[in-house]
Amino acid sequence: MKVALINGSPKPRGSASAMLLDGLRACLPAGLECVECPLHAVRPAEDPARLLLDTDALVLACPVYVDGLPAHLLTALEGLEAPLRRGGHGQRVYALVNCGFYEGAQTVNALDMLRCWSGRAGLIWGRGMGVGAGGALHALKKIPMGEPPKAALGEALAGLAADIAAGDGGPHVFSAPELTREEHCDATQRVWRRLAAANGLTEEDLNKTEFT
Ligand SMILES: Cc1cc2nc3c(=O)[nH]c(=O)nc-3n(C[C@H](O)[C@H](O)[C@H](O)COP(=O)(O)O)c2cc1C
Repeated sequence: MKVALINGSPKPRGSASAMLLDGLRACLPAGLECVECPLHAVRPAEDPARLLLDTDALVLACPVYVDGLPAHLLTALEGLEAPLRRGGHGQRVYALVNCGFYEGAQTVNALDMLRCWSGRAGLIWGRGMGVGAGGALHALKKIPMGEPPKAALGEALAGLAADIAAGDGGPHVFSAPELTREEHCDATQRVWRRLAAANGLTEEDLNKTEFT
């Protein structure tokens, strides 16, 4: 069995989507082949249709943008509908969507958009997993998936991996790191400050409301 791991974050490196896909890959059975499909831009270097037609299941990982999908991903997925309808063989689609809000349930609209897309592309919907506190995952990246506060997340990813391997479907499942709201805010803000500094910005710059 061949599974396409599609990273639909616009970030080519260091995305929460990549961390979640890594966690999922580690849970998939050894005999199962994984194919990386980076979808960070509307037109990636490698033609995704050619890659996807040769697989048995698709896993789409991406962030929530404005309660839906990032614009580049929406355009890329629309472009894939016709080739997948023509050449696909009813592959199952699974989604792994993360969001910045604390509650994983905030991903529900994006997951439903991907479910609708799978029907339009002539594919079969498997199930969706929504992850909250995606920004905090960067602060927790040294902690192995499956260990607190990523225990529930590890368990949910193992469940998704088992469904992919068995070709099973089901309702969306929501998860998040076991952090209090306060810990989530602290962790996310630490990440933002670090990213700001790495990009030559100060903490004051982050609070700016007027730009010249
Ligand atoms: C333009 C933009 C819009 C966003 N909109 C939302 C949103 O509506 N709800 C939410 O919970 N997070 C939102 N986020 C936060 C991202 O979903 C969050 O940072 C996520 O962890 C990024 O995942 P990635 O690293 O895989 O790209 C938004 C981020 C950006 C840049």
